[in-house]
Amino acid sequence: FVMLFVFSSCKNDQSGKIQIGFSQCTSNSHWRKNMNYSMQVQASVFSNVELSIYDSQNSPQNQIKDIKSMIRNEVDIIIVSPLEPHLIVDVVKEAENRGIPVILLDRKINSNAYTAFLGADNLEVGRKAGDYIVSSAKEKLNIIEVKGGDKSTPAVERSLGFHQVIDNNSKINLLRSIDGSGDLAESFGPLLDSLGNQAIDFAYFFNDEMAMEGWKIAKAKGLENNIKFIGVDGLNGPDGGIQMVQDGVLEASLLYPTGGAEVVKLALKVLNGEEVAKNNLLSTTIIDQFNASILKDQLNRIHQQQIEIEDQVE
Ligand code: AHR
Repeated sequence: FVMLFVFSSCKNDQSGKIQIGFSQCTSNSHWRKNMNYSMQVQASVFSNVELSIYDSQNSPQNQIKDIKSMIRNEVDIIIVSPLEPHLIVDVVKEAENRGIPVILLDRKINSNAYTAFLGADNLEVGRKAGDYIVSSAKEKLNIIEVKGGDKSTPAVERSLGFHQVIDNNSKINLLRSIDGSGDLAESFGPLLDSLGNQAIDFAYFFNDEMAMEGWKIAKAKGLENNIKFIGVDGLNGPDGGIQMVQDGVLEASLLYPTGGAEVVKLALKVLNGEEVAKNNLLSTTIIDQFNASILKDQLNRIHQQQIEIEDQVE
C-alpha cells in the first residue's frame, strides 16, 4: 500500500521525487540510529519521496556544511537534529529565506526562524524523573545527578525540569551534580570514591547509555545494588533502556521517542501546504518494572509493522 500525495509546494528534482534532506548531528548512539531507521522506513512508504541523511559526526561545522549543501541541492524540505543551539541559527535562516522549510527534530535552536519543531518535552522528562524519585521517598533520600555535557536543549532542560522538582524538597538531599561528558570513569568513578560510605539512593543520568556506563563503574566497586539508576530514552531492543529496566540495571527510564516516523509525516504535511503547529510535542512516560514488558510488546508490534512495510516496498 503506497500513499501518493499531491505536494503543492514542491519543486521536485529531475527524478520527479520529493527531496527531504535530514541533518543528523551524530549517528553514533543507538537512539540516533533508531531515529534514522524510523525515518527511512516512514519515507519508504511514499514511492515519490527521497530521504537523504547527512551525519555531521558531532561537528557543528560539518552540520553547517551539510545544511548548506542541501540548500545548494535545492531539497524541498530540511529536517535538522541540531548539535548546538546557536551555531546553525544563520544557516537555518538562510534555508528559510530561500523558501526551504526547516523542521527541527529533538533539539531546539536559539531562534524562531524555523517552520516547526517536533520532539518530546525535556522539561517534562526532567520533572517526571524528579517526581519518580520524590514519590518513592519514605525517608530523606541522597541523590546524584549526572548531566548531559553540552548546551543542547535536552541537556539543559532535563536538568532544569529535574531541579524544579527536587530543589527545596525536604525529602531530597542532592549530594552532587556533575557534568557527564567525557569519560565517566574519570568523573563518576572518583565521585563515588569521594563519597566513601555515604549512602546514595538514586543517580539520575542524562540518558540510558550514560546510566549503563555509571552502573558498570559502580559494579566494579561493588556498589551497583546500593544505588538506583535512572536514565532517559527507553529504547526497545537488546541494548535499550527497556531491557536495562528488565535486567534490573536501571530502576527506571524515561521514554524519549525519537520522532523519526512522525517528522517525515510532518514534513509531508508542510509540503502539502497544510497548516502545522510550530511546536509538535511527543509524550514521555516512566518505564519501570511495572510496565516494561507491556511497553516492550507494544513496541515489538510496531517494529514488526515497520518490517512488513519495508518488505512490501522492496
Ligand atoms: O538529544 C537527545 C539525546 O541525544 C537522546 O536522549 C540521546 O540519548 C541522544 O544522544
